[in-house]
Amino acid sequence: MQKATIKDFNFNNKKVFVRVDFNVPLKDKKITDDNRIEAALPTINYLLENGATLILASHLGDPKTEEDKELLNMEAVAQRLSELLGKKVLKAPSCIGKEVKDMVDNLKKGDVLLLENTRFHKGEKKNDPDFAKELASYADVCVNDAFGTAHRAHASNCGVAELLPCYAGFLMEKEIDMIGNTLENPKRPFIAILGGAKVSSKIGVIENLLTKVDTLLIGGAMVFTFARALGYETGNSLVEEDKIELASELIKKAKKAGKKLIFPVDFICADKIEENVKTKICPIQKIDKGLIGLDIGPESLKIFEKELINAKTVVWNGPMGVFEIDIFAKGTKKIANIMAKLKDARTIIGGGDSAAAVNQFGLESKMTHISTGGGASLEYMEGIELPGIKAIKDAQ
Ligand code: 3PG
Repeated sequence: MQKATIKDFNFNNKKVFVRVDFNVPLKDKKITDDNRIEAALPTINYLLENGATLILASHLGDPKTEEDKELLNMEAVAQRLSELLGKKVLKAPSCIGKEVKDMVDNLKKGDVLLLENTRFHKGEKKNDPDFAKELASYADVCVNDAFGTAHRAHASNCGVAELLPCYAGFLMEKEIDMIGNTLENPKRPFIAILGGAKVSSKIGVIENLLTKVDTLLIGGAMVFTFARALGYETGNSLVEEDKIELASELIKKAKKAGKKLIFPVDFICADKIEENVKTKICPIQKIDKGLIGLDIGPESLKIFEKELINAKTVVWNGPMGVFEIDIFAKGTKKIANIMAKLKDARTIIGGGDSAAAVNQFGLESKMTHISTGGGASLEYMEGIELPGIKAIKDAQ
């Protein structure tokens, strides 16, 4: 179902409640990566250019204690947003209450007010109707640009959208197109690369992607649960014992569906997950006793490259190894480089670790799309209807 976007409404002289995902990483109260703020700028600027007054809302982290409230307030975000927009962003002391209401009432056309962390209020995660009602009372209409939060049914993204007409911002629209529409109508060959440590966190994605892709390449430590299902020796590598049976089922499913499910054939192994340890290349059939498979090996990369070279659509979620440590980063880096060089292919990176890896290698501009959603992109790739997207008005 197509969703209504901000192009479908006249925002002139309207107060607009905009749910953004400004859940950015912080260190000592300073923002270490402002990608998510930058990603919301096209929507914010468009609304301002079209005569709107904005009330922005986002969660930041997952505050639980009073101390967290001190650490996770929106001060640094308001400041960074002011710099990026080149105009003053007003910062509300809370999300609700008389002071905030007065600030909203005094806003002039073109003003931008950022509410305090929505998760400072219990009503946010409970999708409490009264909390949603207070938020909705500030505006005539709402815009949801928070794809990263779309898998959460919270008050500021879902509750408010039940009370006000809700339109998708440009970022939300792009994520729906890049992930949702690509999975539905991919150019072929369509290859997905899945990695990461645990097969248990990717079961839904594997099952859904097996119905869509031509080829599924698997890397990361989750391979070892499959390797055990195939009767191989995995040394000290991470294996989810209780998921071996399931891995075996997935292999059978792929075969039955006529899909290529390709595993690495070799691994860079070591006895410790540390910089400068001695490494050895082992075949998938037999990781030496005491060794851990920590990255996919050179022969595997040749096979993966041969598959990827002709792809017209590639979706990647999850690193091939422990890319945070240089000696185990080669596999992940090479995959990112192969994708970066593909001609005429749509290359889509799921958020979270794979996005962090692509950024670490400086290849972000070479990909068609890097999702701003971690959990959200994973659930979207599982084929789950995300509540934040569902709450947006359907296109006419
Ligand atoms: C994210 O960072 O994935 C989103 O902002 C959602 O955050 P959450 O996992 O704390 O709900």
